[in-house]
Amino acid sequence: MQTAIPYNRPFIAGKELYNIAQAVIKHSHLAGDGYFTKQCQAWLQNRLGSPALLTHSCTAALEMAAILGDISPGDEVIMPSYTFVSTANAFVLRGGVPVFVDIRKDTLNIDETLIEPAVTDRTKAIVPVHYAGVPCAMDVIMDIAHRHGLMVIEDAAQALLSSDNDRFLGTIGDMGALSFHETKNIISGEGGALLINNPHLLDRAYMIWEKGTNRRQFFQGLVDKYTWVDIGSSFLPSDMTAAFLYAQLELAETIIHKRRQICDHYRERLAPLEEKGLIRLAHGESSSGSSHNGHIFYIITGTLEERSQLITCLKNENIHAVFHYIPLHSSPAGKKFGRVAGDLKYTQKLSERVLRLPLYYEMTLDDVDRVTDRIINFYTV
Ligand SMILES: Cc1ncc(COP(=O)(O)O)c(C=O)c1O
Repeated sequence: MQTAIPYNRPFIAGKELYNIAQAVIKHSHLAGDGYFTKQCQAWLQNRLGSPALLTHSCTAALEMAAILGDISPGDEVIMPSYTFVSTANAFVLRGGVPVFVDIRKDTLNIDETLIEPAVTDRTKAIVPVHYAGVPCAMDVIMDIAHRHGLMVIEDAAQALLSSDNDRFLGTIGDMGALSFHETKNIISGEGGALLINNPHLLDRAYMIWEKGTNRRQFFQGLVDKYTWVDIGSSFLPSDMTAAFLYAQLELAETIIHKRRQICDHYRERLAPLEEKGLIRLAHGESSSGSSHNGHIFYIITGTLEERSQLITCLKNENIHAVFHYIPLHSSPAGKKFGRVAGDLKYTQKLSERVLRLPLYYEMTLDDVDRVTDRIINFYTV
């Protein structure tokens, strides 16, 4: 049996373990909001341009955003059904109702033309999800939000350092949630951050982050007592997690460059299959000035059966390719807590055919050749 090519492999890129030792030995601070948390937050703010609060996951960042967005029972939140559970669950925890609309067939992102017809007098927010780090149509979405007085919370879990016309994804709406889960580009095991783009939300964000207390104002000398002032939770990661993350953030450009090279090589090798109409390749860069971060390289097979056969065929060669989201509107909790607006035909059709190919920092171009040889063989022999 040939060596395994996993779908994903967590990695060390630089000083991760050294930084963890520094957190313990030099800074003697392992709880949240320590030296490395501050370094990561400063890095994100300098690089992306928005204040950031580190969280223990993107799920936690979305939950913070739902509290900050004042989502109350019965408030509707428009989002795609083709997304991860947390996009919807964070709002359901506050009594919100996810309203699922269809995706575009090119990017697999929310179809912006279907958002306005889904707006009702209960709509409170729109949650665009930048699938595979490719931008949603943010100009259109922001315009709808302004005209209807809605909040925009970007689920940028997969989109760190992807951009749309010189604006980083996650910094365009009122808030943006990032993930550093071990399957993402820049990792800390579990991890995330909430970008606060609307300055009016910043003071309250710190309170929610710190269990609903005004601890930050106390340390800034703005109040003489540190007390409970709002709802919140312990959304902070340990400083050991931040120590690991900071080493990766410092190498973010290198890591993303490497992933984009892998995507380019996949695209080049599989282009002939797309030209013959046998498969469709992941959405690439558009001419409108967007740039993606090489997060996912997927293909779209002809049918669900074809995808299952291809997964088995790759598995037989010790290559692990995986499908992605089961649409939320068809899940038990999605049916119970959410509702559908319009026909979700592309969500249904495409979610059954998306196949994500192995992609990780230490993957070599030879590995890509091995995967693509097998796929080419599957379709042409
Ligand atoms: C679109 C999207 N949102 C949210 C999440 C949740 O991220 P985390 O695992 O950091 O909580 C994910 C995770 O894969 C995701 O893909």
